[in-house]
Amino acid sequence: MCGIVGYIGNEPSAPILLDGLRRLEYRGYDSAGLAVHSPGGVQVVRAVGKLRNLERALEERPLHGTVGIGHTRWATHGRPSEVNAHPHVAGPVAVVHNGIIENHVALRNELRAAGCEILSDTDTELVAHLVRREVDGGANLETAVRKTLSRLHGAYAIAVLSTLEPQRIVVAKNSSPLVLGIGEGATYCASDVPALLPYTRDMLFLEDGEMAVLEGSGATVTTVEGAPVKRAIQRIDWSPAMAEKAGYKHFMLKEIFEQPRALEDTFRGRLDRQAGDINGAEIGLTDADAADIKRVVLLACGTSHHAAMAGRYWLESLARIPTVVELASEFRGRDAVVGAGDLIIAVSQSGETLDTLVAAKEAKQKGAKVLAIANVIGSAIPRMSDATFYTHAGPEIGVASTKCFSAQLANLVMFAIWLGRRRDALSPERTRELVEALARLPQQMADTLNGTRQLVANLARRYVDARDVLFLGRGLSFPIALEGALKLKEISYVHAEGYAAGEMKHGPIALIDARVPVLVLVPRDDNYERSLSNLQEAKAREAMVIAIANEGDVDARDASDDLIEVAAVDPALTPFLTVLPLQLYSYYVADFKGTDVDQPRNLAKTVTVE
Ligand code: G6P
Repeated sequence: MCGIVGYIGNEPSAPILLDGLRRLEYRGYDSAGLAVHSPGGVQVVRAVGKLRNLERALEERPLHGTVGIGHTRWATHGRPSEVNAHPHVAGPVAVVHNGIIENHVALRNELRAAGCEILSDTDTELVAHLVRREVDGGANLETAVRKTLSRLHGAYAIAVLSTLEPQRIVVAKNSSPLVLGIGEGATYCASDVPALLPYTRDMLFLEDGEMAVLEGSGATVTTVEGAPVKRAIQRIDWSPAMAEKAGYKHFMLKEIFEQPRALEDTFRGRLDRQAGDINGAEIGLTDADAADIKRVVLLACGTSHHAAMAGRYWLESLARIPTVVELASEFRGRDAVVGAGDLIIAVSQSGETLDTLVAAKEAKQKGAKVLAIANVIGSAIPRMSDATFYTHAGPEIGVASTKCFSAQLANLVMFAIWLGRRRDALSPERTRELVEALARLPQQMADTLNGTRQLVANLARRYVDARDVLFLGRGLSFPIALEGALKLKEISYVHAEGYAAGEMKHGPIALIDARVPVLVLVPRDDNYERSLSNLQEAKAREAMVIAIANEGDVDARDASDDLIEVAAVDPALTPFLTVLPLQLYSYYVADFKGTDVDQPRNLAKTVTVE
């Protein structure tokens, strides 16, 4: 998730672009850059790190000109470095891009074979070369971009300049956001509304599959195929603070609702629906490696540990491979028995958690292979690993992890399916069925979020003063119960216990009385009947029971005080849906209590201490 911005008008463009990038910095900040039309052609300045570094670079090498584009980067292809920073240039063309081009490998090979000198590891530079080839062939910039877009699969919001057409910026959008700002004698584009609010409140929202030519006098919108588009200008009344969070009160709530998008991005290029299989090219293991693995050891901390617990379930049930899951802080320094034949999967959103890093290093030294699942490109754990399978959730600002958790689940289940197929544990039919079920998840998640939000907020208000809350689940729902309890503790400071539903009778049942809300996960899976009887046991002790079950579950409704209905999915995929109301529940309890939701006390987003 990157931020892009563009300006064409009569004012010096660099300060306006920088200001826009500052407002978009929440979308990523591992490098930034500007390209501005200058008398000698398009000039580019880029710098690694936060925007301050770009500002310093611009003090030394100022960019003069009234037309330009800018970018703040969240690395998805190629680690953060100046050469990978945007804008990317090919001949007279400069491009900024937010998104992921799926067919980047094929395009890179094709361009290399055609003699293009490709300098960076990014997918974006390939777009610049493709546009350049069209421009060199005589096309104007608009046509060159149009032809290039027909070659791209994946998500993009791009803005393109050409030295040959200094009075124009061409932009296009598919899946990634792009908004145009219409000012007095000036036209803008940006990834998000906040970048433009100080300059204009008149916005024009591009739809997927559309492009526009920006000139100082306004924007002409067409479809990528060239059909004219009439789009009304909308007046935006958001305050700048609201805009930064896209209208949500907190980043956490925004990120909860971003989960369908985070999943789509994480699935992109990996779910091969045509083949009915997982495209494992990025996993970095060969089929022979897959066959050689004797055991998987999952290492993680915090929320990532809960994702890893679901991962174990999938690796055992779908890939039929012996799997253990360990808290990295307990694994390290224990001289655990691990070595050749073991595949370590280090799961870490930040890729920097010290305990996970040290634990993975220890295992590697003993001869195990390490695969990282991380969200931050080029972070410490991916750097020390043999291979990395990245999640593409985009930067997560709220300290309590939500969208990164879902994206970790996505990578873990995709890996288990990939491995299961390679090891003949999964039939081609079941593999195809799972791939199709995964492809449906983003929409089902969106429906579940929208469908449960109000009810969950009402329940949170009703139980806001509860001193203890219990979360119960079995099988795949056990880690989700743990995650529900952790979320509540983290942000609302309420004592919560996540428990394996079958273990309730061995202890936690003593806690239950009429003042304790008990949230029980009873999705339709192999554990359904047993979980339902645990729910009834809690109800018999007068607990206030909230069931999280599939839509239309009459038995769960009859047995509980309140029913939260989530979309029905393949029984192997229930965590993607059941976790959503639990995230919302903790969010609303915290919000009603008035705690600092995005930065809860005593916690840190990335923990690099022991
Ligand atoms: C901190 C964060 C948690 C996170 C954990 C592990 O405690 O507050 O949200 O789950 O670290 O972080 P990682 O980056 O390794 O996933």
